[in-house]
Amino acid sequence: MKRVCITGAGGYIGSWVVKLLLSKGYMVNGTVRDPCDETKNGHLKKLENAEERLHLFKADLLDFESLCAAFAGCSGVLHVASPVPLHVASNIPGSRVPNPQVEILDPAILGTQNVLNACLQAKVEKVVVVSSGSAVLVNPKWPPDMELDESCWTDIEYANSIQDWYGVSKTTAEMEALNFGKQHSLTVVTICPSLIIGPMLQSTINATSLLLLSYIKGEGRSVIDTMENLKRPYTDVRDLSEAILLLYENPESNGRYVCSAYSLGTKEVVAKMQSLFPGYNYPTTFIDRRDIPPLNSKKLLKLGWNYRPLEETIVDTIKNYEETGLMENGKPFPSMIRF
Ligand SMILES: NC(=O)c1ccc[n+]([C@@H]2O[C@H](COP(=O)([O-])OP(=O)(O)OC[C@H]3O[C@@H](n4cnc5c(N)ncnc54)[C@H](OP(=O)(O)O)[C@@H]3O)[C@@H](O)[C@H]2O)c1
Repeated sequence: MKRVCITGAGGYIGSWVVKLLLSKGYMVNGTVRDPCDETKNGHLKKLENAEERLHLFKADLLDFESLCAAFAGCSGVLHVASPVPLHVASNIPGSRVPNPQVEILDPAILGTQNVLNACLQAKVEKVVVVSSGSAVLVNPKWPPDMELDESCWTDIEYANSIQDWYGVSKTTAEMEALNFGKQHSLTVVTICPSLIIGPMLQSTINATSLLLLSYIKGEGRSVIDTMENLKRPYTDVRDLSEAILLLYENPESNGRYVCSAYSLGTKEVVAKMQSLFPGYNYPTTFIDRRDIPPLNSKKLLKLGWNYRPLEETIVDTIKNYEETGLMENGKPFPSMIRF
């Protein structure tokens, strides 16, 4: 069976991709920054087939040699690692990044350059780079109701002007990755996922899971019981993992792919959660805000991608939060513990 490497194996999305690869019989190399950090990465070793087929490598995106070691013998690389700052998805105050160059831009942009060069050195055939909807939709010229597809790019100058460092990092890294693929004998495919929700395999909470949790636990609401009503694109983390693997496996995949299942207002998502789990503390008042335009995934759907119903995502996610103790009364909001 083929050996593939996944960067950022211990993160929210990375963990689900590792699980999927192992379930499909792949030999998997996974990069993590600290293989000995059991709190962050211990869950990977417990995945089915991990003992026989998962090999963790200590690698940092800014350390070229460490990436080369992880990619040796791999026919494919799934480049998932990139800093996702807390404020990207949450309304939680005080979460701005003090040094964006070091904390976001360098790992994302120089890190992707390192990944691509290490792929060349290791003679990898194909790389799937996980970009973001933030590389598609940060552009004041798009009308809020216009669907955005692969031809739409974030306006880097505008993103810089509003200090959207995450948007700048993902757009620059993705553009450079696609250009790199055209200039070298390496197939580069990129995927731009919407906001990702769904159960967590890892034990430290990530930025976008915090957002969903804030809908139930109340933190981040501007006034108690009040929340902004903002239409956003959502996708289940398990469906994104399938999409990443589909792009890797399908020889027809090329260029850029938008990945988004639903576009829903916060009010609609909260109503759905409340109907399925009525016992929690939901916001009662919503203040309308300018919607994020819907993302159009026709290109990915045409390649064979599919996604599950929203109800399934919500049920599995809240059950996961309950099982991991996140919903316990009186437990501090996880951002206070982890970030
Ligand atoms: N969640 C979403 O809604 C969403 C939407 C669109 C795109 N994405 C993209 O999906 C990818 C994964 O995001 P996620 O939500 O799974 O976030 P996450 O759980 O925070 O994972 C981020 C991963 O990046 C790794 N990383 C960060 N800086 C690194 C560095 N300098 N060297 C090596 N590894 C580094 C982290 O490693 P450590 O564990 O060592 O910190 C972690 O594994 C990112 O590329 C993100 O931009 C996410």
